[in-house]
Amino acid sequence: MSEGLTVSTGTKEEKYQELMPQLEAVISCETDVIANMANVASMLHETFGFWWTGFYRVVDGMLVLGPFQGPLACTRIRKGKGVCGTAWKKGETVIVPDVEQFPGHIACSSESRSEIVVPVFGNEAVAAVLDIDSRELSTFDDVDKKYLEKLVRLLHV
Ligand code: SME
Repeated sequence: MSEGLTVSTGTKEEKYQELMPQLEAVISCETDVIANMANVASMLHETFGFWWTGFYRVVDGMLVLGPFQGPLACTRIRKGKGVCGTAWKKGETVIVPDVEQFPGHIACSSESRSEIVVPVFGNEAVAAVLDIDSRELSTFDDVDKKYLEKLVRLLHV
């Protein structure tokens, strides 16, 4: 893809609808999952202006930092710990409207106010998580959940 990202200034749902085919096009051109995670993180980050957008991969029984956009982040998270480790343990998306109200939230950045973590499945088990942080409260809802869950199914982890 040489022309770059094109997403208009519409509603959140409209942005996702425009973004999805572009994400599919990018992912379908490449088989390497790290390369695809890197471009997915970039495209989401650029489109929505999130604070931190990236992946943690399950490596040797821990979540290990993968491709991301945004400030420095913690590199390893244990199962059940923080929002990421909780989404991994439950095998389901976790939406946190206010990180200060989430017991055990891991604060990689004091700027982060709300968060969504979406598990990425490979061979039935969670193989990675997509983690997105916002500097505003209550940024994420069922619209994000719907499109991000659809998006991570495109990744062949
Ligand atoms: N807040 C996450 C840690 C990762 S950073 O947000 C990039 C958590 O509680 O799992």
